[in-house]
Amino acid sequence: MNKSVRKAVIAGNWKMNMTPSEAEKLVNELKPMVEGKNGCDIVVCVPFVDIATVVNAVKGTNVKVGAQNVHFKKNGAYTGEISADMLKECGVEYVVIGHSERRQYFGETDETVNLRLKAALDAGITPILCVGEVLTEREQDVTAEVVARQTKIALLDVDADAVKNVIIAYEPVWAIGTGKTATSDQADEVCGIIRDVLAAKYGKDVAEAVTIQYGGSMKPDNAAELLSKYHVDGGLIGGASLKAADFTAIVDAAQ
Ligand code: PGA
Repeated sequence: MNKSVRKAVIAGNWKMNMTPSEAEKLVNELKPMVEGKNGCDIVVCVPFVDIATVVNAVKGTNVKVGAQNVHFKKNGAYTGEISADMLKECGVEYVVIGHSERRQYFGETDETVNLRLKAALDAGITPILCVGEVLTEREQDVTAEVVARQTKIALLDVDADAVKNVIIAYEPVWAIGTGKTATSDQADEVCGIIRDVLAAKYGKDVAEAVTIQYGGSMKPDNAAELLSKYHVDGGLIGGASLKAADFTAIVDAAQ
């Protein structure tokens, strides 16, 4: 099977950075730099309050907009939460789900990740499902079990047609924001394990069609090597997505 059947997706995860005016400035800088670079899909996952500004700023360009979380209920008495329909109507096409920071600091569980993922799919938004082991799990050699469990539970009640619209991001927690990157072989190995989980549930053809990103200190100087690996179909980029030049260099590596 040829890796080129899958389109690479380079997604920036801005996290809790950029006020609306800062967001507008960054995205206006980015737009001309990535213009015409259609070898990958380009996404910026921005804070909720930046969505309207950024959607407006990227209209007619090849930059797409994502959110960083979504609630699993359609609507109702859930103070402070944002529904998938709200995001959809605002022009959001992607949403990060189950990021390790949400699991670590905000009590996100595999079960709520599954509910959020299904809510996004129901609204026609592409989930970017994050899975990955913490350092002690890697040291105890249980990485495969951890990512398999996270992937399986996140995809409960998701059928083969729907899973083709899911992006999975393998993000080893020990590599996020630490400057430590998984080696390209480590990234490829675990992305391959995730693809095996998909193959066992949905069959090989479906598994081969799903985009699996690597995330965790992906930068201009390591992106090409990571992206050259068979199972690595793109990147979820935190720190380096906050600088237009760095993010563009990673987009270039994916062309
Ligand atoms: P990082 O973050 O690139 O800053 O390590 C990646 C992520 O958390 O998605």
